[in-house]
Amino acid sequence: MNIDKCVNLDDLRVMAKKRVPKLVYDFIEGGVDDEEGLQRNEDAFQRRSLVPRYMVDVSTLDQSVELFGRTWSSPYGIAPTGGIGNYRRGGDMMLARAARDANIPFIMSGAANASMEEMAREAPEHGWYQMYTANDRAISEDMIRRAADLGIPALVVTVDVPVHSNRERNRRNGFGRPLRLTLGTKLDTLRHPAWLRDYMKQGFAMLENWKPYAPEGASSLEVGEFMAGQVPANLTWADIERFRALWPRTFILKGVMRTDDALRAAEAGVDGLMVSNHGARQLDRAPSPLDVLPALDAAVGDRMALMLDGGVRRGADILIALASGAKFVFLGRPTLYGAVAGGAAGAVKAVDILRDEIDKVMAQIGCPSLDRLGPDFLHRDQEDAGRNIRL
Ligand SMILES: Cc1cc2nc3c(=O)[nH]c(=O)nc-3n(C[C@H](O)[C@H](O)[C@H](O)COP(=O)(O)O)c2cc1C
Repeated sequence: MNIDKCVNLDDLRVMAKKRVPKLVYDFIEGGVDDEEGLQRNEDAFQRRSLVPRYMVDVSTLDQSVELFGRTWSSPYGIAPTGGIGNYRRGGDMMLARAARDANIPFIMSGAANASMEEMAREAPEHGWYQMYTANDRAISEDMIRRAADLGIPALVVTVDVPVHSNRERNRRNGFGRPLRLTLGTKLDTLRHPAWLRDYMKQGFAMLENWKPYAPEGASSLEVGEFMAGQVPANLTWADIERFRALWPRTFILKGVMRTDDALRAAEAGVDGLMVSNHGARQLDRAPSPLDVLPALDAAVGDRMALMLDGGVRRGADILIALASGAKFVFLGRPTLYGAVAGGAAGAVKAVDILRDEIDKVMAQIGCPSLDRLGPDFLHRDQEDAGRNIRL
């Protein structure tokens, strides 16, 4: 299949699935435990619909949004995804450039294979940095200093990884620590020559942002081991307050799902929250971000910008999230699939598909600009009406 033939994000997923071995696809697509959360995230959007208003002039549409003192051309951005270099060589920067050119934010993962220095050079206004806190807080403080010195506009601290989660697909494929690939998994890589060629050229991709902290001369696999050993089970609000004090610009927490945590974040001087369950990759029994969003919105009001990710697969989903109280929306897998399927062109394609879908739905519902979008456009399925989750 040719990237030009992809008409929606799911086509990109199917194309990406063909290009990479099963262990890579499973790593990207997978959830945890019984993988109920994956469906829950997407179902939350299916349970809501948009009620169209007609006799509205929609001959000019404006999907731009103000966020953190800047105008973005569209209300969505690219969520941080780690290890991209192993799915598509150079994928981090392909996504960063696609975001820059579309004037939307790209969040570089704390487990990226490109460096924050490279991102700051190529996408100085559009590239944000997501940090995984290290057990050794001196590492985290140094990362914050590096990102601050580079002028990176926003720091996103992910808080929903207190332990490594139970990703059963990876375990079955032998794609864990230590790496114990099954014979079937190895044979499967031979059936994906384009991916294998890239892999043979460079091997396992380096975690560039962690490399300076691992023992000198460590291989990419050893740097991965080093980072894996740094998961901070003891991350607390005292750390968040310290990071906030060290960071000079926009400070965001990713993974907050409760109103009490949201209020605590506002007190700590956090500028924005990404309401997220990590794409259902950490706690399988977590509610969908969309279901908890209205309660968080009611609790924090204008004190912080609420953003959302998880289960967004269509432009209409983005509008549903905005009408439910989100200021901005991010996507993890769908944009990643663009890059995996078609490299730089695929990353651009994913971003373009979303922009076009948003325009069409805005026209269809009689909403020429996003400041007019509110809960009056939302319809919730009847059986769901009493199930608004409050946390
Ligand atoms: C392959 C993959 C890697 C991810 N890596 C990270 C990461 O390094 N840091 C992080 O905060 N979130 C990470 N996430 C979670 C995403 O940022 C985002 O929350 C999630 O993908 C949103 O759900 P969606 O994939 O349904 O859009 C990852 C997700 C995927 C699919």
